[in-house]
Amino acid sequence: MNRIEYFGKCLDRSDLSDDPIQMTADWIEQGRFGGIAEPEAMCLSTVDGAGQPSSRMVLMRGLSQRGLVFYTNYNSLKAHEIRENPQVACHFFWPQLHRQIRIRGVASLLTGQESDAYFASRPRTSQLSAHASQQSEVIVDRDFLETRMRQVENRYPDEVPRPQNWGGFLVAPSEFEFWQGRPSRLHDRFRYRMEEGVWLIERLAP
Ligand SMILES: Cc1cc2nc3c(=O)[nH]c(=O)nc-3n(C[C@H](O)[C@H](O)[C@H](O)COP(=O)(O)O)c2cc1C
Repeated sequence: MNRIEYFGKCLDRSDLSDDPIQMTADWIEQGRFGGIAEPEAMCLSTVDGAGQPSSRMVLMRGLSQRGLVFYTNYNSLKAHEIRENPQVACHFFWPQLHRQIRIRGVASLLTGQESDAYFASRPRTSQLSAHASQQSEVIVDRDFLETRMRQVENRYPDEVPRPQNWGGFLVAPSEFEFWQGRPSRLHDRFRYRMEEGVWLIERLAP
């Protein structure tokens, strides 16, 4: 099996911002300039009431001092699991840059107003599919989905209202890890942990 040697730039304590949100924003921008098509794509992990984890990709659509925002169906598996256990993990991986970011935090519902504003900014077809698809439900076939899509197109010839079961989640982060691949598996890793309102930064062994 071929093994890829990681030769990314070194990541030193002096390269780090005190603010892990700013670091995340910087790495996403660097990913975009580095040719990554959707650097905001992240793996979101949730855990159900029985302790069984589940992961899937979502797009991060907001990043601020409050945390990370993504949008989804509030009746989906992930939303049910967040209601059972709001502790989640987010993971970005950009293989071209030999970088990953791991984030742990607590998810909560975004306000209806914030979800309305984002929904209004989406393309019409995405707005309609949010109505047509009961995300994570079992369906008989593709025709069922396309028939539903035609029905909602007819129901909403003009403006499409946000479905009540569709909106955002905010992940308030409590821990970050910034990982930079280096040669010989001697990677650089820095963890940020919130302690008494201050981000504590520690280097971890690879
Ligand atoms: C790159 C990528 C981005 C995605 N972004 C979203 C998203 O922002 N929101 C969403 O609900 N699903 C998104 N999906 C689909 C999810 O991965 C998943 O199939 C869906 O949300 C159902 O997950 P669940 O059944 O675990 O709730 C995305 C998939 C990919 C591959």
